[in-house]
Amino acid sequence: MTKLKSTNVVWQEGRVDRKTREEIFQQCGATLWFTGLSGAGKSTLAFTLEHMLIKQGVKCYVLDGDNVRHGLNNNLGFSNTDREENIRRVGEVSKLFADAGMVVLSSFISPFRQDRRLVRDIHLQDALPFIEVFVDTPIEVCEERDSKHLYEKARRGEIKNFTGIDSPYEVPEHPELVITPTSSPENSAKQIIAYLIELKLLNKNSSLS
Ligand code: ADX
Repeated sequence: MTKLKSTNVVWQEGRVDRKTREEIFQQCGATLWFTGLSGAGKSTLAFTLEHMLIKQGVKCYVLDGDNVRHGLNNNLGFSNTDREENIRRVGEVSKLFADAGMVVLSSFISPFRQDRRLVRDIHLQDALPFIEVFVDTPIEVCEERDSKHLYEKARRGEIKNFTGIDSPYEVPEHPELVITPTSSPENSAKQIIAYLIELKLLNKNSSLS
């Protein structure tokens, strides 16, 4: 844990409380956190789900590991401490989006349990729904797909600290949802929507049946 440098700062309350925001927007903010190996299909699933939800009028947005590392987190690499900072920042951003009333689809390898737990905790402390979705694709399948040719490079030693090769991935112990590669992205997205309806985070009008 880094020493806090932000001192003498005072929390400022807005004029709109969450309930009012939810009533006016007609939706609840929430974070769906997709974790899994590189190539597991997290982003494909998150973008498929985003497309389905947007078509139903649900305000949502994907925060994707590769994309966020093009901007906000372009000063971070793949050491354990950089990954920790990556997840801390995107966890905080997710929380802000969820507080703003968005359904946030956060897609990051997020290989460490402790970092994912921290993101969960900051959401729960603020009474914001947090749903961990483990995209459970075995490394053999990810490596076989290797659409970005990164496993190939990692095996040749051209990329260091590659998750699943020479950097660990800690499997989630109690994810809310587990997605396996036997289900298509469309079917997995529908499964997630059904779960959100069950939790009353989405209303039935968002059902795609
Ligand atoms: S995380 O571990 O910090 O959560 P994040 O999801 O942001 O990772 O970024 C992962 C993406 O970065 C991968 O999908 C891959 O395209 C790329 N990448 C580049 N180097 C590595 C590496 N050493 N390990 C894993 N992914 C890498």
